[in-house]
Amino acid sequence: MTRRIPARAEEMLREAGYEVTVSGKDGVLTRDELKAALAEKQYDAVVSLLTDSIDSDIIAAMSPSVKIIANYAVGFNNIDIPAAHDRGIVVSNTPEVLTATVAEHTVALLLTVASRIAEGDRFIREGKFVGWEPMLLLGTDIKGKTLGLMGAGRIGSEVAGILHKGFGMSVLYYDMKKNEALEAVCGAKYCATYEEVLAQADVVSIHVPLLPATRHLINAERLAIMKKNAILINTSRGPVVDELALVTALRNGTIRGAALDVFEFEPKVTAELLTLQNVVVNPHLASATEETRTKMAELVATNIIETLEGRVTPNAVA
Ligand code: DGY
Repeated sequence: MTRRIPARAEEMLREAGYEVTVSGKDGVLTRDELKAALAEKQYDAVVSLLTDSIDSDIIAAMSPSVKIIANYAVGFNNIDIPAAHDRGIVVSNTPEVLTATVAEHTVALLLTVASRIAEGDRFIREGKFVGWEPMLLLGTDIKGKTLGLMGAGRIGSEVAGILHKGFGMSVLYYDMKKNEALEAVCGAKYCATYEEVLAQADVVSIHVPLLPATRHLINAERLAIMKKNAILINTSRGPVVDELALVTALRNGTIRGAALDVFEFEPKVTAELLTLQNVVVNPHLASATEETRTKMAELVATNIIETLEGRVTPNAVA
């Protein structure tokens, strides 16, 4: 394991008879540290985190005994999948167990921006609160407005479910394929392009994987299509949003506000973002509940055990 994760993974692996080595460093391993750690033993499995860049070079440094790279995340853009497959290594992820948690967090971020909760918190801490005021920090309502999903997989659909049922929001979406279940449950309408979603939505929530085609999916041109009162939420991967373009849009009032759980140059946050009041920033916490992180650890162990025991890997990625 390149870093300690909730103890359940280690417990399950040890109970199944495996020896587990966990990196002693309390932090992300550098490339050289990762290479050195991988060369220490003839591992059968490697547990990686989304902060580990497992590129072809790192994969080549792995012992030929490695049969699976079990990523402790649903996203797997940190791993060169073809390079792993070329060496006969299975790659797995941790889908489903985090869907509800990430969706709840997405909604929490939306409400934080719409109701200006972070700004209010800062206002009080800065000693500025002198009494109720008719025009203080006015937010915007969510009820009955239109949600636009950029990507309508598991997490996007869950977000739509909460906001449609709980807040009466209408749902529009663009995805590579139509999601009939989402249409049936939320009355969601399929749009033929991202632009169609952006032009009509009051809230835009991003739920696409990071791929060459989705890098800077939200750029200056697309921000310009959005409504002036719109709110953008990103809990997917940072590079999907061009942060400098977003700074300009937030500063000029092209859109109302944004919330980012992930960053283009993570863990670095574009400095200009931090000068703006109408953006909420969060240190990649969307799946961070005790329950969910434990379930992710269980899934990592299950993926390894099933693979090493010659059965089908439950969450192998293609
Ligand atoms: C993931 O799993 O990909 C999230 O970004 C972190 O849990």
